[in-house]
Amino acid sequence: MNKIALTGIKPTGTPHIGNYFGAIKPAINLSKNPELDCYYFIADYHALNAIKDKEQLKQYTREVACTWLACGLDPKKIVFYKQSQVQEVTELNWLLSNVTSKGLMNRAHAYKAMVEKSLENGDDPDALVNMGLYNYPILMAADILLFNTKFVPVGLDQKQHVEMARDIAKAFNKRYGYTFVVPEELIQEDVATIYGADGRKMSKSYGNTLPLFCSEQELKKWVSAIKTDSSLPAEPKSTDCTVFKIYKLFASNEQADLMAEKYQKGISWADAKAELFNLMNSVLSPMREKYNYYINNYDEVEKILADGSKRAKVIAKETIKRARANMGLD
Ligand code: TRP
Repeated sequence: MNKIALTGIKPTGTPHIGNYFGAIKPAINLSKNPELDCYYFIADYHALNAIKDKEQLKQYTREVACTWLACGLDPKKIVFYKQSQVQEVTELNWLLSNVTSKGLMNRAHAYKAMVEKSLENGDDPDALVNMGLYNYPILMAADILLFNTKFVPVGLDQKQHVEMARDIAKAFNKRYGYTFVVPEELIQEDVATIYGADGRKMSKSYGNTLPLFCSEQELKKWVSAIKTDSSLPAEPKSTDCTVFKIYKLFASNEQADLMAEKYQKGISWADAKAELFNLMNSVLSPMREKYNYYINNYDEVEKILADGSKRAKVIAKETIKRARANMGLD
């Protein structure tokens, strides 16, 4: 029987190039493994903790759903759903709460960071902490355990959460008998750092992200703003620069080698940037077209998500039934 791989994507921002290379592309590649059944979902319950504006949550949810489809997620192969449409998640969340020690939650990085921040502000340690943040790892464990998940492809920042899901599964199995598959994180080790035009790591917190599906014009403007050194047009250039690093992300190995040769021979920054723009645009254009199609035909996306949640519920119901029975509720 195939193993289950599952991951959640929080709708807390407009998807950017960093998300594409860091999470979307690797997850879609993983789904091509014939020995895996993949469950990918939009973690809107989790987003409630950060996004308090109703329209904004809806907007980000739409953008994230359309982005994954535009990037090649095949909803026939991958069960693609919205977390809040599989309400069994919240029931499991409660059941798991009762085998989870408060001490385990106290150790969560995200919670600890908020406590630090509250203290820095001279406030009560829990001033910035709501229960959604505090219980976040239990809800995530529910997402994972509900589907008998074996592998959880995530970035390094989520490793602790998957470890907690594993601890919770073990605690439950120990008390009530074997109920849940014990999951493992699948950390993408070889993901290159993605750089912003300022040469720093691309990150929402630096405000240097490039929306994946910005217009051609915006893309051109972004490329022209990339920081370069002051070498003269004909001088050889180092490939240890932001223009080349971004080029490499989008290029095949052959394309990257060719460009490296041009750097060695001497290429003007204007020409290097023109080549970068052309390459990025040729990769992004077909995806951008699909994205715009889905955004403008969102009812199709809603159908895909509704179908995904229907498929997800089949396993979710079985798991809930088993957990309830093992706990003595039924
Ligand atoms: N916490 C994850 C993030 O911030 C999103 C997420 C929610 C998730 N539930 C999950 C990831 C279950 C993997 C499995 O990126």
